[in-house]
Amino acid sequence: MAKYEWDDSLLTGQPAIDTQHKELFKAVNDLLETAEADKGGDAIKKSLDFLTDYTIKHFFDEQQIQQKYGYPDYQNHVKYHEEFKATVRDMSHQLILKGSSKALVDELCKKFGDWLVNHIEIQDKKLADYIRKKS
Ligand SMILES: [Fe+2]
Repeated sequence: MAKYEWDDSLLTGQPAIDTQHKELFKAVNDLLETAEADKGGDAIKKSLDFLTDYTIKHFFDEQQIQQKYGYPDYQNHVKYHEEFKATVRDMSHQLILKGSSKALVDELCKKFGDWLVNHIEIQDKKLADYIRKKS
């Protein structure tokens, strides 16, 4: 599967958020590469664990920023994050249950990458606009 190319059109203008978004792109691409290189289940699990942990950290940090600025759409944004965290947890379970085939990793990474791009485009840019107006 083709890797996710970072595109500056995804920048929100909030450096703390943008840096972590780039790191998430890198993490999903690392997972794809690990599966591509056929490094085995342990390497894939390690890569997926990093992606999962970093996603949780990123959501937490982003929510802290929202609270700091009194973001009015905070509750909805948290709901989107929580729903996606459940999806990521489900991805990990599927890999454990079905075994880490390249096809499954590709499918999971596509789900992850597509969600992330869509979430940045709509929700995170909306948040960044709010912070800009508020600052
Ligand atoms: Fe977000």
